[in-house]
Amino acid sequence: MNDRSGKFITLEGIEGAGKSTHMPFISSLLQVMGKEIVMTREPGGTSLGEEIRNTLLMQKSFEISGNTELLLMFAARQQHLEEIIYPALNKGKTVLCDRFTDSSYAYQGGGRGIETDKICQLVQLVHPDLKPDLTLLFDLPVEVGLARANMRDLIDRFESETINFFQSVRNAYLKIADAEPNRVKVIDATANIKAVQNAIKTILKEQGLC
Ligand code: TYD
Repeated sequence: MNDRSGKFITLEGIEGAGKSTHMPFISSLLQVMGKEIVMTREPGGTSLGEEIRNTLLMQKSFEISGNTELLLMFAARQQHLEEIIYPALNKGKTVLCDRFTDSSYAYQGGGRGIETDKICQLVQLVHPDLKPDLTLLFDLPVEVGLARANMRDLIDRFESETINFFQSVRNAYLKIADAEPNRVKVIDATANIKAVQNAIKTILKEQGLC
């Protein structure tokens, strides 16, 4: 399954951190190096995954339990790996993914309080041999991120969570970055677009990717 020659790069961060804004820039830097890029996202990336995404993001008149949310994230991920991520990596393509399993550790682990062990078990089931080669963590204070996210028209089910929830999500992300400094590179997402782009470029250069 995982006979891969391509690179797997993920983007992470709380709402309003600017991942989606920077994705095309990162893709263009990698393309200049002659890499074939697959841009994708989680939850989503496949037809089934996008249906699960809609289910998870739409405001609801009923509760979705933390475990159910976690399992749906991993169900979408399983399909995404089989249909998109593994085939692309096996062909030597670079996969640029807006969120991956670090989001589950941060949101369902940090935010919803699900034990890390439980999430690790799902990782063992769904992608025991795959970890991103590089993760860019766009970090900023929760208040700043939420203010940016709230400027958009529709507030989704996650965006309507409390400041405390997002504080826990951010802390969980920073804990992962502390534990895995070689893989997870933290970028100050409060800086202006040009400064963030320069930081991205520096990291990609250090990694020999551009
Ligand atoms: P995102 O793509 O950032 O949505 P938008 O572009 O509208 O900001 O993220 C979708 C939401 O899904 C986000 O709130 C985080 C959440 N999420 C999890 O809670 N766990 C996960 O494993 C993933 C991949 C996403």
